[in-house]
Amino acid sequence: MIRSVILGTGSYLPDRAVTNDELATFVDTSDEWIVQRTGIRQRHIAADGQFTSDLATRAAQRALESAGVDASEIDLIVLGTSTPDNTFPATAVEVQNRLGIVKGVAFDVQAVCSGFVFALGTADSMLKAGLAKKALVIGAETFSRILDWKDRTTCVLFGDGAGAVVLGVEEGAGTTDDRGVLSVHLRSDGRHKEKLFVDGGVSSTQTAGHLRMQGQEVFKFAVGAVTDVIQSAFEATGFTGESIDWFIPHQANRRIIDGSAKKLGIAPDKVVVTVDQHGNTSAASIPLALDLAVRDGRVKRGDIVLLEAMGGGFTWGAIVVRW
Ligand code: UT7
Repeated sequence: MIRSVILGTGSYLPDRAVTNDELATFVDTSDEWIVQRTGIRQRHIAADGQFTSDLATRAAQRALESAGVDASEIDLIVLGTSTPDNTFPATAVEVQNRLGIVKGVAFDVQAVCSGFVFALGTADSMLKAGLAKKALVIGAETFSRILDWKDRTTCVLFGDGAGAVVLGVEEGAGTTDDRGVLSVHLRSDGRHKEKLFVDGGVSSTQTAGHLRMQGQEVFKFAVGAVTDVIQSAFEATGFTGESIDWFIPHQANRRIIDGSAKKLGIAPDKVVVTVDQHGNTSAASIPLALDLAVRDGRVKRGDIVLLEAMGGGFTWGAIVVRW
């Protein structure tokens, strides 16, 4: 059985870090409120003229470097983003061009905060189907560009960044002892659109619009959805909260992360948390956290890593990977 194996990881954050205190100078908020309700202490914001493709390309280059793979070997790029450089072409195609890749296929996936998990699931299916041999899967966002900086209920929550992985194929036995992506579970439910959306778009308003969110409604749905889809991943693989090595969830709110880990019986020291430093970087949050935990030596060969995300749409999903 063909398995997609993660060969390397990379990430990139814009230089400028904005603290809660800095936000409190222009919006009616406080460090105390933000830390207590979300766990966020700072977020990175892209510089003027720095686009999603710039962040994505840097993360991709670092992932290629860590994998020891030359860009010319890549024949598939799947990029999760809700903040593309342009309405079209896909940001993935810009990244492909910037990396000097002139073969294969590149496209974007739009699943908001679940973008990386959807992109990884898509790339995994394509590699298994023999449609490509080496893939870059990227999550990259400049959410700062769609925030209403006068709306304290949303602008304090998000940040910019990018993360990427390189996938290759390996022959596996078809058991959970194999390395690579072991199980993919993706879901969506369009009935919840009004709870988290952007109030603009090409076809509707011809503007980019601003992010709008009913935070409490999203919060309530998130804990249930996340635990439910992870239960499915556990049932499919036989792993449990105790037997996995690392839980790398979407980084939206510390309380959601802690609440779902507790419900699933995952010990706090197995949970990778970056929301304090990055805020919510939407599709970039999981590959950013993954890259950190790989580079600091936490995630090691053979470990079972559980990825999970939930976002606008609603969309949500979980993926189990053996490192
Ligand atoms: O990534 C996609 C998924 N997104 C999420 O998972 C986000 C899910 N939701 C959340 O994380 C939380 O609901 C929030 C962090 C967005 C909000 O936390 P909350 O505990 O649900 O607060 P709340 O919305 O119930 O607001 C409580 C109070 C309100 O004041 P009143 O009505 O009690 O007087 C808000 O106006 O806090 C007020 N408030 C703030 N105060 C200071 C809201 N935002 C702020 C702020 N600073 N930035």
